[in-house]
Amino acid sequence: MIIAIDGPAASGKGTLGTRLAEHLGLAHLDTGLLYRAVACTLIDQKAALTDIAAATLAAQSLTLDRLADPRLRGASMGEFASVISGYQPVRDALLTFQHQFAAQEGGAVLDGRDIGTVVCPHADVKLFITAAPEERARRRHLELQRRGEPSEYERILNDIRRRDQRDMNRSTAPLKAAADAVTLDTTNLDADAAFEAALAIIKARP
Ligand code: C5P
Repeated sequence: MIIAIDGPAASGKGTLGTRLAEHLGLAHLDTGLLYRAVACTLIDQKAALTDIAAATLAAQSLTLDRLADPRLRGASMGEFASVISGYQPVRDALLTFQHQFAAQEGGAVLDGRDIGTVVCPHADVKLFITAAPEERARRRHLELQRRGEPSEYERILNDIRRRDQRDMNRSTAPLKAAADAVTLDTTNLDADAAFEAALAIIKARP
């Protein structure tokens, strides 16, 4: 079984993906980490974020163990990832990576921006997770505070709005719900309620 989860930054799709995968005994890939890892590699190499050739090479040589780097989760890495995610050759290389992951025996849960539309258009279940930008900023703010990282609500809200705009308006694989996706608005749902709602959608599929 393949479960595709898409949605904007900090919508809760990662947490949901982890819980669903655990519950259903499936492998899970947070595909945002792939873009973050490519951005991080460029930074380590002191290459510019505009260096498409270096970014493509980094995407082609990416391995799963690279995704465990805690630096990938930082707020600035999300911003850098959003920039390099607009490069078609980078997306092509990461598409191959994602297809290989999705093809593993037993199936997988993948979350990102274009899983239901581009990466796994034949997924068994497609979920589109949304929440109001203010609520997403509040959650991200709390998460950073819990981790002891400096955080400012207004700044996070602005970052989220900017990233939404860039992800939705890029020409290649923009963030959007697949025509056959079920949309789940988690603005008023906590993680447990979102999980239960998603599970009900999965169980109700034909
Ligand atoms: O989900 P996360 O915030 O980690 O993603 C970081 C960035 O990577 C996103 O803002 C988006 O630009 C890009 N991304 C993408 N396609 C995906 C997953 C992430 O373009 N499937």
